[in-house]
Amino acid sequence: MMRGVFARILLWFWLSLVLVALALELTIAATSTPVEIRVQRFSDGALGSRAREAVAILDRDGPPKVARFLEELERTTRMHAVLLDADGHDVAGHPVPRKAAAVAARALATGETEMDTDGQAAVKARAVTIGGERRYVLVATLPVGLMRLVHDGPTAQALRLLAVLVTAAAACYGLARYVTRPLAVLRSTTHTLARGDLSVRVGSTMGRRTDEFAELGRDFDRMAERLETLVTAERRLLRDISHELRSPLARLNVALGVARQHAGDDQAVLDRIEREADRLNTLIGQLLMLARLESGTLTPERVVVDLEAIVRDVAEDAAFEAQGRGRRVQIVETCPELVLGDAELLRSAVENVVRNALRHAPEATSVEIGLRREGRRGSPRVRIAVRDHGSGVPEAALPHIFQPFYRVGDARPRNSGGIGLGLTIVDRTIRLHGGTVRAANAADGGLVVELTLPAAA
Ligand SMILES: Nc1ncnc2c1ncn2[C@@H]1O[C@H](COP(=O)(O)OP(=O)(O)OP(=O)(O)O)[C@@H](O)[C@H]1O
Ligand SMILES: [Mg+2]
Repeated sequence: MMRGVFARILLWFWLSLVLVALALELTIAATSTPVEIRVQRFSDGALGSRAREAVAILDRDGPPKVARFLEELERTTRMHAVLLDADGHDVAGHPVPRKAAAVAARALATGETEMDTDGQAAVKARAVTIGGERRYVLVATLPVGLMRLVHDGPTAQALRLLAVLVTAAAACYGLARYVTRPLAVLRSTTHTLARGDLSVRVGSTMGRRTDEFAELGRDFDRMAERLETLVTAERRLLRDISHELRSPLARLNVALGVARQHAGDDQAVLDRIEREADRLNTLIGQLLMLARLESGTLTPERVVVDLEAIVRDVAEDAAFEAQGRGRRVQIVETCPELVLGDAELLRSAVENVVRNALRHAPEATSVEIGLRREGRRGSPRVRIAVRDHGSGVPEAALPHIFQPFYRVGDARPRNSGGIGLGLTIVDRTIRLHGGTVRAANAADGGLVVELTLPAAA
């Protein structure tokens, strides 16, 4: 549909130009001196002396020289003049236009300067008496438009300019608003969608528009609708699959118990089956967790959580485990910090990061945990930093470690390696709490993972 915006902009421009022209015309009318007054002012005295000059030339050199003189006069003043005698005949013998003759007759009768104007031209006649008895009359025709230019002062010009500027500004403002308003609506809706709120729609925020912008808004809504359906379907599928896997797994465990009773001494294979079943169980648990975090259906509790206590707790557990494997876990920095959120989710997030660090820490090194307040006034934040002294993550892989199932080098070691969902869940959990997660390699080796959360007031 090419009509709407195209036609509107076309019409708008045309209309604004018309308005500007109208404003100009109106100011000209309002500021200019009426034609009659101007003509009156123009050349009253000059007309008399020109008439005498012309008569003198007539007496001295004859009619052709008078014609030359009047031509010269027209060239310099744009005033077309003829010299008539007392009977109203052109001294050069040319026919006299009716209007000129009428004005001339009036001038001869009254002895005053007489004038007739029709808006296009002004006809002025001035009678002179030479030597007490010979009478002549000079009839001059002046274009009125010319006098307009001659007589308008600088204030009138400034006013005209102002009128044009103001009308043009008003028209352009309207046009700019007409174009930018729907763009602003589309922009903010797109932003909301990009932030992950798939339920956002342009809908009726466009008002009663019927142009291309409204079309675009409707297209956007259709796109968002489709996106939402697809994404929700995918999430639901993930959740359903994970859920459905639970029951056969439970039955497998029951069968495993029965099998153990019959197997006697040789339990090795069954141990293996049990381990794998456990891994499968963990995987399903994590998948379900992720599905819940991503579906947006999980609204975390918003209670005051003692972050320091959580960090201490996790560190203690990890330290106990680490001891047996010749590694240490230390809290290097801490402060009393409270955040709003779900204690269980936050705890598991911190634990996930600490476990990763411990898994990658070489023997006889320690994992360091720091908790500190980020001093930004107005929006205080808490930062938990966990670092190890392992090999770190290749720079190229850093942005990916928060993606589901991503493992560096894609090595999937059977026993030591995890599934690759840990950091993904951490990321979603922290974001759900309004925070951010960052990973970076420390200058002297090892990975630093930072969880930043808004502090409770
Ligand atoms: N402290 C660390 N040092 C080096 N690499 C790390 C560290 N933490 C995470 N990684 C890398 O990031 C990848 C993703 O981590 P993530 O926690 O998501 O998965 P995982 O630990 O392998 O499995 P899961 O946590 O699901 O059991 C890991 O496989 C590992 O390659
Ligand atoms: Mg992990």
